[in-house]
Amino acid sequence: MYQAPLPVEYTAASEEELRSRILAAKSALGNRLVILGHHYQRDQIIEFADFRGDSYKLAQNARAHPEAQFIVFCGVHFMAESADILTSADQKVILPNMAAGCSMADMAGLFQVRSCWKQLTELGIEGVVPVTYINSAANLKGFVGEHGGIVCTSTNAPGAVEWALEQGEKVLFFPDQHLGRNTGVRLGFDYEVDMVVWDPFKPLGGNSAEDLRRAKFILWKGHCSVHKRFTVEQIERARAEYPGVTVVVHPECPLEVVQAADMNGSTEFILKVVTEAPAGSVWAVGTEINLVKRLAIENPDKTVFCLDPEICPCSTMYRIHPSFLCWVLERLVAGEVVNQVIVPEKTAEWARVALERMLTIGQRVRD
Ligand code: 13P
Ligand code: SF4
Repeated sequence: MYQAPLPVEYTAASEEELRSRILAAKSALGNRLVILGHHYQRDQIIEFADFRGDSYKLAQNARAHPEAQFIVFCGVHFMAESADILTSADQKVILPNMAAGCSMADMAGLFQVRSCWKQLTELGIEGVVPVTYINSAANLKGFVGEHGGIVCTSTNAPGAVEWALEQGEKVLFFPDQHLGRNTGVRLGFDYEVDMVVWDPFKPLGGNSAEDLRRAKFILWKGHCSVHKRFTVEQIERARAEYPGVTVVVHPECPLEVVQAADMNGSTEFILKVVTEAPAGSVWAVGTEINLVKRLAIENPDKTVFCLDPEICPCSTMYRIHPSFLCWVLERLVAGEVVNQVIVPEKTAEWARVALERMLTIGQRVRD
């Protein structure tokens, strides 16, 4: 998505000036405004968030505030789209920087998924239920809704996949192969026997017809560039340096990393386990650095560090700079809505079905 450059009064403003202007705009807008902040946002954004959370919790929060005229989503594009789909027509969802996308979400396009579906249909493969990770464009969620599938997040992927397998024979999971594989293994499937990877740039995704017929899981060849960086060697090093350390990683990490870790879960899960851990405990965390640094600051009685010694920020989440937040809020105070994310109703209709299915099976969330 294209983002026009900001007026110089925002780019040249100091951190302190931006802070006081954001506070002033926020107070002028009062309860007409709700600011949502994903856990990967920098501290200078999180301090203004009315609610912070993982993708699942923020989707719930967006829906839980019908009184808010404006929902400013400090996260990435697919999150703002989901919020727009789940809120009423008179509420406006705003993404402070339109260039804040998700490289993983971009790895599956509607045209490619339709082509995959067509190839599976032509092979006579029936009972395929599409499951999309929430990290995907709204039109893919629409495709999933229309074809009897469901959206999942890292919080409820096992429940969503179980649901899908009750509706049909096999799952087409996109765009994150790792979350799909980790979820399948968690549910007791064998990744070598029951799963194939679909490469959208190869005929039949690079598989034989026989393999596709046999597979229980067809995993889209997508990944997160941040979570791909975590390795088993990093875990071994952390254990050697800190005996007694607990390793917790995000399920977007590769299977061998998830299997070598002590636990895995969504960003909200990671926050919860570290926050609730006893004083003196030591945590090696495999997820984005802004969250890990904040956990370390908010838990001074524990040792919390990132598994990856090199810094690993999500570069697109980082595009939500306070200058963009200040700009969108001040425009709202002036009566102008900028950077509104609008999902056309034609797409939103089926996408809403897929998202609502996810929220309905929310109770099946496993720990
Ligand atoms: P969570 O839903 O766990 O916050 O994950 C979102 C995400 O994009 C992780 O990379
Ligand atoms: Fe996307 Fe990875 Fe960033 Fe999450 S961390 S928003 S999956 S690029």
